[in-house]
Amino acid sequence: MSESLPNVTASNALYAQARERIPAATMLLSKRPELFAPGAWPVYFKRAWGSKVEDVDGNVYTDFVGDVGATLLGRADPDVNAAVRNVIEHGNFCTQNYPGEIELTELLCDIIPCAEQVRFARGGGEADVVAIRIARGFTRKDRVAFCGYHGWHDWYLSANLADDSTLDGHLLPGLRPLGVPRPLAQTALPFQFNHLQSLKELLESRPGEFAAIIMEATRHHPPEKGFLEGVRKLADEHQAVLIFDEVVTGFRMSLGGAQEYFGVTPDIATFAKTISNGYPMAAVVGKKEIMRIVDEQFISSTYWTDAIGTAAALATIKKIRQTGAVEYVWELGTELMNGLKEAISRAGIPADVQGWAPLSILAFQDENPDVAAAMKTLFVRGQLSRGFLSSAMHYMMTSHTREDIQAYLSACEKSMKEVKHSLDKNTLMEDIEHRPSRPLFKRLT
Ligand SMILES: Cc1ncc(COP(=O)(O)O)c(C=O)c1O
Repeated sequence: MSESLPNVTASNALYAQARERIPAATMLLSKRPELFAPGAWPVYFKRAWGSKVEDVDGNVYTDFVGDVGATLLGRADPDVNAAVRNVIEHGNFCTQNYPGEIELTELLCDIIPCAEQVRFARGGGEADVVAIRIARGFTRKDRVAFCGYHGWHDWYLSANLADDSTLDGHLLPGLRPLGVPRPLAQTALPFQFNHLQSLKELLESRPGEFAAIIMEATRHHPPEKGFLEGVRKLADEHQAVLIFDEVVTGFRMSLGGAQEYFGVTPDIATFAKTISNGYPMAAVVGKKEIMRIVDEQFISSTYWTDAIGTAAALATIKKIRQTGAVEYVWELGTELMNGLKEAISRAGIPADVQGWAPLSILAFQDENPDVAAAMKTLFVRGQLSRGFLSSAMHYMMTSHTREDIQAYLSACEKSMKEVKHSLDKNTLMEDIEHRPSRPLFKRLT
């Protein structure tokens, strides 16, 4: 390798300490260094601004991993931060409620097709739990048909109680649902993306028992013509609440989310991540007829009333709307996807680019997953040595510039050539010091 890997001694020392004191070391699976380039990945940051980050060792990178989708406007956005500072100065928590909640509710109802009423939470998985509770309460039914990833909670992981391969295509292969009560078995059942028949058969296998169908409307792959419309029809036929999990697609694919982009309106939708540009916030929005069941339920939490997330969401959504941020990340992301495809073809490596311009995926391909993981690791190491944080996912931010894209693509070209060279010489494992990354989420959607 021509350039050398950054020195990440301080990061590695902190990580060793974390592994002693924090079980599973990081609170979010997608922030574990083993998923990128074990030993070489800068695990801890000192400062993050725009698309740049300085790690605890003092190395500065341009980041294309993009905060797992949490910050469309880039880190430390001045307008979002000003709104947050304002509520901090005036008191962000109080006996009374923050009126910004009402303004945010009106804004969401104006933007999102299915939104007539809104509840707030502070995380994506949490918003999904709320949506499922509402659907079960409204329909007085228990079972849930799902497709895609929906967080870490019992209702979802229970899918693996009967068979621990159920979540393989939606979350992680072979995940053991340790700690999830066994009586929940068979309450969450999967269907396949772009396979309407699999949903039809599932719903017909237990007629009248499904409270909800929850899905990501897209992730890596586009829905085939008629698929989402078919899901909508099946939900109506089976009187199940249709929930779109828009934790990733919301305010990113389109201001009104995937439902606006594809023109299919669910009954309920959940939002987090981009909604507040890195501050904790989530929303569950939906049709009044269904949402008002909450009046009869117990769905309540202290920090759902904090003003920081609400103020951040108001500032974020207004800025995304006013500045055409979604259009910008589509434009830049398209340039990135096209450039990646060209670089792959010039380097002659087995890889593909999938997904959508605001969220694209670089997938290294080999029938042996270990070889694919080793190729990805070598690529990530190459990019690190050239000053970029890379992984399989590229979440675009408005702080990325055309120059960033060009510099990134030129680094990709070199890193991909290194992968090709290693493949040809059969030295992949030596070249990554026998430390391949582990697969993260393996998704079918
Ligand atoms: C589609 C989807 N739903 C739910 C979640 C969970 O959100 P959180 O990590 O905020 O709980 C994620 C997180 O990546 C997600 O991608």
